[in-house]
Amino acid sequence: MATLSAVKQFSDRVNRIEISATMAVVAEAAKLKAAGADLVEFGAGEPHFPTPQHIKDAAIAAIQQNYTKYTSVAGIPELRAAIASRHATDFGSSYKPEEAIVSTGGKLALFNAIQVLVDHGDEVILPVPYWVSFKDIVEYAGGRCVYVETDEADGFQLTAEMIERQITPQTRAMIINSPNNPSGAVIPPDEFRTILRMAHERGIYVIADECYVYLNFEGSFSAGSVTEAREHLVIVGSLSKTYAMTGWRLGYALAPAPITSAFTKLQSQNTSSTAHMIQKAAVAALTGPQECVGQMKAGYIQLRDQVLAEVATIPGLTCVRPVGAFYVYPNVSAYFGRNGIHSAAEISKRLLHEAHVVTVPGEAFGTRDHIRLSYATSSAEITKGLARMRDWFAKLSR
Ligand SMILES: Cc1ncc(COP(=O)(O)O)c(C=O)c1O
Repeated sequence: MATLSAVKQFSDRVNRIEISATMAVVAEAAKLKAAGADLVEFGAGEPHFPTPQHIKDAAIAAIQQNYTKYTSVAGIPELRAAIASRHATDFGSSYKPEEAIVSTGGKLALFNAIQVLVDHGDEVILPVPYWVSFKDIVEYAGGRCVYVETDEADGFQLTAEMIERQITPQTRAMIINSPNNPSGAVIPPDEFRTILRMAHERGIYVIADECYVYLNFEGSFSAGSVTEAREHLVIVGSLSKTYAMTGWRLGYALAPAPITSAFTKLQSQNTSSTAHMIQKAAVAALTGPQECVGQMKAGYIQLRDQVLAEVATIPGLTCVRPVGAFYVYPNVSAYFGRNGIHSAAEISKRLLHEAHVVTVPGEAFGTRDHIRLSYATSSAEITKGLARMRDWFAKLSR
């Protein structure tokens, strides 16, 4: 009989990945909170705004009207049409309803995209810093991440030239996230067009993660407007951040029909459809009044300016000015070597336990000198949290 240690308990593919670092931070913070700690939470990436009332009303009405059963795997036709139409109106894309597929969160749309496109040994180009889940989702599929380092001195800007240097015959796809989580960098439209055309000419897929596309503070651009490259483009979108709907789990992908068909096949074997009443609420979100989107964006811009001003008062911390999303990504490396601290992970951990401020260490996003703060919270919490951080950093002796 095999000894216990010789028995492989889990599959290789699940052993290749780690629990999402942001989810891990949230779990650790929740433990402290349950024990009575008064935490300031800059950890999780979710809007502090409530979901707009008309969206909630649509969900309640949908339940009352018994929209409580399975739907077709790719989503109800009116929602697929609403996704395509909203995107066309806002960004000048030209997707048909059958090229839109509804998923249980943008994360699942991304997961499906990678599973459908990436095989064992395929290379996937990943600009750094990257959102935590990209790397693990690629590795789960058996792909190999090829990193493109961006430079903090240039505001973490990504260029087509940087990507081109990493292309090999094994390159299958690249994941482009603009506005970027965690840096807040936004790729200028001309550069994005160059990236898309370059990828298309080489037959490389671009997976454009647009979860923050409505939180671009200085413009409005979607890869979907570059119609000549659409054959190799998969757009991953989400209602989570745009309409403050993180807990509703409603995401989507826009892609040529053969790709959405492959998605549908995969989704028919995992989640089937997303909840019917949530899809109805999503129709209300996408076809109803859009003022809420602009109002929340204006709120985030104010909070960004506040958090930047407050971070600037902490000696030694430097911070790129984010142009989108709702994170700041200060460089904390000036404090390495003080009080036995050698990494952003240690700073994050000690900030949590000693200052009761929740942040996410840069290691989770592929850089070692930074911590991420989500400023999707109230102005008062920002003031309180930054005061705690200021005191904590001041106490670190040389
Ligand atoms: C860059 C990025 N992509 C995708 C997602 C997934 O969002 P959801 O699954 O809530 O739609 C997130 C969530 O934080 C994100 O930051």
